[in-house]
Amino acid sequence: MNFHSDKLSKIEPSGIRELFSKAQGIPDAISLGIGAPDIHAPKELKEALKTAVDENFNSYDQTPGNPGLRSAIARKYKNEYGVEYSESDGVIVTCGGAQLLYTALQTYLKAGDEVLLQDPCFLTYPRQVVLAGGKNVWIPSTSNFKIDVEKLKGLITEKSRVIILNFPSNPTGAVMTKSELKAIVDLAVDNNLIILSDEVYEYYTFDDQKHIHVGAIDGAYERTITANSFSKTYAVPGWRMGYGVATSDLMKPIYGYHGFVVANATTPTQIAIAKYMQMEESKEFQKFIREEFQNRRDAIVKGLNSIEGVKCEKPSGSFYCYPDISGTKYPDGEEYSNKAFDLAKVVLVPGTEFGPTQSNYIRASFGSVSVKQIEEVIERLRTKL
Ligand SMILES: Cc1ncc(COP(=O)(O)O)c(C=O)c1O
Repeated sequence: MNFHSDKLSKIEPSGIRELFSKAQGIPDAISLGIGAPDIHAPKELKEALKTAVDENFNSYDQTPGNPGLRSAIARKYKNEYGVEYSESDGVIVTCGGAQLLYTALQTYLKAGDEVLLQDPCFLTYPRQVVLAGGKNVWIPSTSNFKIDVEKLKGLITEKSRVIILNFPSNPTGAVMTKSELKAIVDLAVDNNLIILSDEVYEYYTFDDQKHIHVGAIDGAYERTITANSFSKTYAVPGWRMGYGVATSDLMKPIYGYHGFVVANATTPTQIAIAKYMQMEESKEFQKFIREEFQNRRDAIVKGLNSIEGVKCEKPSGSFYCYPDISGTKYPDGEEYSNKAFDLAKVVLVPGTEFGPTQSNYIRASFGSVSVKQIEEVIERLRTKL
């Protein structure tokens, strides 16, 4: 018998999780599938968590988050981007960035509202939009994976309510410049849209670029909810620690929803992160991440472009690259990734997971592979496919 809600029937399961489990039992499989960093969490952060547990921070905390952590987050935005968010009612700590995105969409969408999202995008967004009763409207990308602003203009209707931005991007690694983003902010202002800006890869920017916080762009502050996360920033995706910042007006309704879903995010992890954010080591960790992942990026882009028929743009951020495989023997992303798994034991994600017009692409995550493994992957793809 089918007991589940009709909402669930409207969304597709994630193919990435399936690929992940498929690869797990195979000894020499190499996975470029899952979007998580393989580096260990910093030791000072782990120590801080052990201390928090030993000091008995094991009960509930305040619904919007531990006050010490909220204040550290507000300070971070002031120091790094010159933007003020109120630590008492403009910051929320959630169970991963995913829960912030979910809760924000649940809070702000009314039945039939349209959400503008980029084709391709993080596969969780369209599912969360449907779960919140909204309708996905896909914005085409330019050839270098930025939002096509001219096309966006033609897609805005009176039902448009939210636009989701995600730079650096999962799955493409693209980053839009401040002036490019400003054109989108202007459209959001003219059409009274909420901007949901997912900035979880803010510290994964390469070639000395500084991350652009959308909330700091002229006109954006009053209408932007920013999603962020410690999953990638401190390499602790299993801790499920995310957060959001916005004006008090936008944030307070989100508090109301969040309280009845999780009461509060995990307490000892919040205490540990608040402590670690103040430590000099956290800055060093960010520097380490940038260097490590830039090396991996350089190796994978060079390697992929050396394979006949594969064209790969250089990602400016995140830890994904998104090659076009349409010039190969297997020109369809699903077929290519099946062959990569069957013939070379390499896990790649077909572009069709990320949007409706993505069959020419595959996503290769370099989050969990060393440069040596990247070289091995390239060799296998070159010789076995
Ligand atoms: C673009 C993007 N946003 C949000 C998330 C959610 O991360 P978490 O819920 O672990 O914070 C991910 C995870 O891969 C992501 O790639």
